[in-house]
Amino acid sequence: DIGGTKITKDDVVKDDPTNNVPDSIFTKLGLQLHNRDKHPIGILKNAIYDYFDKNYTTEFTKFDNLCPIVSLKQNFDDVLVPADHVSRSYNDTYYIDAQTVLRCHTSAHQAELLRMGQTHFLVTGDVYRRDSIDSTHYPVFHQMEGFRVFSPDEWEKSGINSTSYAAEELKKCLEGLARHLFGAVEMRWIDAYFPFTSPSFELEIYFQEKWMEVLGCGVVEQEILKRNGRADNVAWAFGLGLERLAMVLFEIPDIRLFWSNDERFTSQFSKGQLGVKFKQFSKFPPCYKDMSFWINDSFTENNLCEIVRGVAGDLAEEVQLIDNFTNKKGMTSHCYRIVFRSMERSLTDEEINQLQLKVREEVQSKLNVVLR
Ligand code: PHE
Repeated sequence: DIGGTKITKDDVVKDDPTNNVPDSIFTKLGLQLHNRDKHPIGILKNAIYDYFDKNYTTEFTKFDNLCPIVSLKQNFDDVLVPADHVSRSYNDTYYIDAQTVLRCHTSAHQAELLRMGQTHFLVTGDVYRRDSIDSTHYPVFHQMEGFRVFSPDEWEKSGINSTSYAAEELKKCLEGLARHLFGAVEMRWIDAYFPFTSPSFELEIYFQEKWMEVLGCGVVEQEILKRNGRADNVAWAFGLGLERLAMVLFEIPDIRLFWSNDERFTSQFSKGQLGVKFKQFSKFPPCYKDMSFWINDSFTENNLCEIVRGVAGDLAEEVQLIDNFTNKKGMTSHCYRIVFRSMERSLTDEEINQLQLKVREEVQSKLNVVLR
């Protein structure tokens, strides 16, 4: 069953040594920001749906309630992710048990929907990735997958080969979508690699003085179509990150705000109103804490960040490596700067000192590093 399954704590917090889903992530399951019509993520989803409804004669079927708990097979094997690909590691993906993960992309549903006979579909949902901490990264975010299958008569009359045909249709579709959403914004296409598409591309948008990746896409690998009953077709697919698009459209400066229940945030958005500029209600001061330690072989930044989030929750704004050296004995020291800031209020010194103390304790006991 891939319908709107209700998730209980027992589904997720299994007593399994491979389980690496912390409580801070568990509490995000089922919140469904993308299904709230007055939330920026929901507003954006609806605006993208409108674009597809207006521009395609064949309606795209929308799925926005597929369960985020999927098998390894769905998340990786079905989309041809190689056995040794980093995205499969415990460092990158949340495992519930050795065979079950929190989906790290909506591509996890491509194969099953193809097998159901779907040829035009959009899948929207929450996805989960262990990652670093800064204003555009959060371990839970939302993606929309688009998928369109073409039949031979469609490209045959165009006179170009099927792959080029699908690639052209894809770029036309996404450039049209970008215009529909943004009007004018600085963007660029770059060549990319995904195991499930070839050729593959990424679209980047200029934001906060940097190029930011907002979507990946490409012509679907023939093997995926063949395995799922579409050997004679070609298809394109894309996966776009809704938070990042919404940050640009609504001028939302920090990705944590999407999770805020503060009325000063939530009351600023209304159904169908795309791109109303967010007014920051106040900018509270950040507080910086540095921490140095000797790392060991198993140290990873993602593990550190998870501890920081576990302790400080959304008060953690950024974790940044500011110094890194190896001594004569071959020991490597890292110094991290943790930025604490609330989006909603001023923090007290005492509160931050408590948090930092707890972080130091846990870093030592859970990561087995030696504090300096
Ligand atoms: N699943 C990819 C990601 O999450 C995006 C993607 C989807 C790329 C479909 C190509 C085709 O990064």
